[in-house]
Amino acid sequence: MDRLIIEGGHPLKGEVTIAGAKNAALGLIPAVLLAEGVCKLENVPNIKDVNRFINILSKMGAKIERPNNNTVIFDTSSVAQYEMMDDETRKMRASYYLIGALLGRFKKVVIPFPGGCNIGVRPIDQHIKGFEALGAKVEIEHGIIKAYADELIGASIYMDVVSVGATINIMLAAVRAKGVTILENAAKEPHVVDVANFLNLMGANIKGAGTDIIKITGVSKMHGCEYMVIPDQIEAGTYMIAAVATKGDVLIKNIIPKHLESISAKLIEMGAEIFEYDDSIRVIGKENLRAINIKTLPYPGFPTDLQQPMAVLMCMAQGLGTITESIFENRFKYVDELQRMGAEILVNGRAAMISGKKKLSGTKLSATDLRAGAAMVIAGLVADGKTEVTELKHLDRGYENMEQKLLGLGAKIVRIRD
Ligand code: UD1
Repeated sequence: MDRLIIEGGHPLKGEVTIAGAKNAALGLIPAVLLAEGVCKLENVPNIKDVNRFINILSKMGAKIERPNNNTVIFDTSSVAQYEMMDDETRKMRASYYLIGALLGRFKKVVIPFPGGCNIGVRPIDQHIKGFEALGAKVEIEHGIIKAYADELIGASIYMDVVSVGATINIMLAAVRAKGVTILENAAKEPHVVDVANFLNLMGANIKGAGTDIIKITGVSKMHGCEYMVIPDQIEAGTYMIAAVATKGDVLIKNIIPKHLESISAKLIEMGAEIFEYDDSIRVIGKENLRAINIKTLPYPGFPTDLQQPMAVLMCMAQGLGTITESIFENRFKYVDELQRMGAEILVNGRAAMISGKKKLSGTKLSATDLRAGAAMVIAGLVADGKTEVTELKHLDRGYENMEQKLLGLGAKIVRIRD
C-alpha cells in the first residue's frame, strides 16, 4: 500500500491550482444519463471517486472518450441497463445518484445500498421520501435498492434535514417528472447549483437552486451539452488551511472566492491575512494565531468536510478552541491520530475542545477517511520530524495530485509506492 512521508517545518510558498469539484462531478456524471445526446464535461477532477463513477457508466454501456485527464465526453444513447449491481457501485457513496438519474431515464433502477466514508450512520430516507412523493415504489432488501414507477409526477416535497445528496438526487428524477416539483428546505451548496445549471443547459427547467426552495418543471426530453465543473471548494479550503498552518504564503488559483467565505472568515478570525481576487485568493499565515470556535453547518455555514484540517490548525493557536460537528455523528475518529502526535483534544459527543500551542511530533498515521487524510497531511507538514501517512486510498478518492501540488509549494513530501 502507498504511503506518504512528510518532513515537517517547511512553510508552503507559491501558487497552486485547484481542480474541479469532486462533489459536483459526482452529481454531473450520473446526470449525463438523462441526455439524449453527447455531453462534454471539462475541469473534471482526475481522482479515484470520479474515475470510478465514469467506469460505472462505461460498464453500463455508455461510450466514453477522454481527450485529456480533465475532459470527459459521454454518449449514453446506447445505455439500456437500469440495474448496476457491481462492487464499484456498492463501494461508492455517490452511486446513490444512479437512483434519481435512472428513475428519471428508465423509471426503474436496481443498485446496491451505497458505501463511502465511515463517519457515522448515513441514512438515505430523505432521498426515498422524495422518490416516493414523485410516485416511485422503493424497496430495500438484502442491501439492494429497487425503485420503479409507471410514471413520475411532480410533487411538493419538504425535506426533514438539509441534505446535499437528497436535493441533487430528487432533482435528477424530478426533471423528467410530469408537472411541477417544489423542493423545500433544499441544500444550497455550490455543487447543488452546479448540477442544476448543468441540467438546465441540457434542457431542464429548474429555478431557485442555491436557495432553500427549488422549483422543477418536468420536461419530456433533454439534450447533450458542454459544461465546465466548478472549482472544488473543499480542496481550496484544504490548501488555505495548510498555508496558514505552515505560516506560508500561497496563491490559490481557479477558485470562486464566494464559495470560500466561511473559511476565509474563520482564518481571518484566527489572525491570518487573506486577499481575494476574481478567481484566486492569497493566504498568508502569521506567527501568533488565536483560538476560535467553529460549528459545522450546511452551506453557507462552515463545511463539515473542512473541520478535520481545521482541527490541526487549531492545535497551533493560542488558547482553547472548540469544533462542534452538527452534520455527521461520528466525525472525530481522526482525533486519536492527532493525539498520538501530541495534540491535546478532548472529544465530548459532537464537540471537540482543542488546547492550542502544543507541539506536534511526527509519527506513523493512518488516514481513517478522506478528509481525515487531509488533516493528517497538514499535521505532517507542521510536525517536528517525519510523519508517515498510510491508507492513502481515502485521500486519493478526493484530492488530485496532492503530493505534486504540495511539492510545488515547497513541501518535503514523497510517496512511497509499495
Ligand atoms: C455530501 C458530500 C459530503 C459532505 C456532505 C455534507 C457528496 C458525494 N458528499 O454527502 O462530502 O460531507 O454532503 O456537506 O456530495 N441525512 C439524513 N437522511 C438522508 C440524507 C442525509 O438523515 O436521506 C443526514 C445525514 O446523515 C447527515 C446530513 O443529513 O447527517 C447531511 O447529509 P448529506 O448532505 O446528505 O450528505 P451526503 O450527500 O451524504
